Amino acid sequence: MSNEVNLDIKPLTGSCGAEVFGVDIAQPLSDGTVAAIRRALLDHGVIFFRDQQLEPETHRAFTKRFGEVVINPVYGHVEGYPDIMPVVKEATDKYVIGDTWHSDMSYMEVPPLGSLLYAREVPDFGGDTLFANMYMAYDYLPAPLKEMVEGRKAWHSDRFLTSRVAERNAGRSTRLRTDLEAKENLALHPMVRTHDETGRKCLFVNYPFTWAIEGLSREESLPLLNQLYAHCSRPEFTCRFRWRKGSLAFWDNRCTMHYAINDYPGKRREMHRMTVAGTRPQ
Ligand code: SIN
Repeated sequence: MSNEVNLDIKPLTGSCGAEVFGVDIAQPLSDGTVAAIRRALLDHGVIFFRDQQLEPETHRAFTKRFGEVVINPVYGHVEGYPDIMPVVKEATDKYVIGDTWHSDMSYMEVPPLGSLLYAREVPDFGGDTLFANMYMAYDYLPAPLKEMVEGRKAWHSDRFLTSRVAERNAGRSTRLRTDLEAKENLALHPMVRTHDETGRKCLFVNYPFTWAIEGLSREESLPLLNQLYAHCSRPEFTCRFRWRKGSLAFWDNRCTMHYAINDYPGKRREMHRMTVAGTRPQ
């Protein structure tokens, strides 16, 4: 293991996303290299590694360099690996997971720091993933809207997923667990969050999981929430990643959202996702 840090970081857009070259993440990495990767994540919101050869053990070893691994509470796992979530679309499937702009598991009291998604099989085209920079979404929010969200909190819930398990599992190979307890995962989070490492403010609301603004009903909340969702996904705040077999995306779940594009009917895509523990949003 060397302490040499020789990363070559190439930003993809003016908003977020950078490819990181010059590192084989299946190998044991020096603390300096891990710190440089973390810096790239903080600088770009989502980073991408190409042509990596990861097995579940090496995927896990790399993930653990960034924190505790979190087990997804609602989806199944790869056999023998409770902490690895399969994200699979079979050629015969109609649906995928993640095809709305979202921040992973924001319905948890302590949502994850980030996820590391590794491509094992991808279609020759289609199946890209979009990412959005939520710092920019906050920075460019018109002042009257900023006033409406600043200091406010919103409820986040997993009911979008768990209320229609059978319907969602039909036609989709990434299955929700069917043994879920009736108890809802519900958490109250600030609508504007201060990133615990960069100190920057970002919007923290997302379509599937933000249920209602504190003190308002869902119906009363939706006009403002829908306006925020439309704003957050402006193309100027986003990047689009084209996968290849062996690509790994590592996104900062605190300050980005992502969207999996379901545009590859009849083709197979298989990914493994691992997730790192975060801190309570402040
Ligand atoms: C997800 O984690 O939301 C899925 C992303 C993807 O399949 O590209």
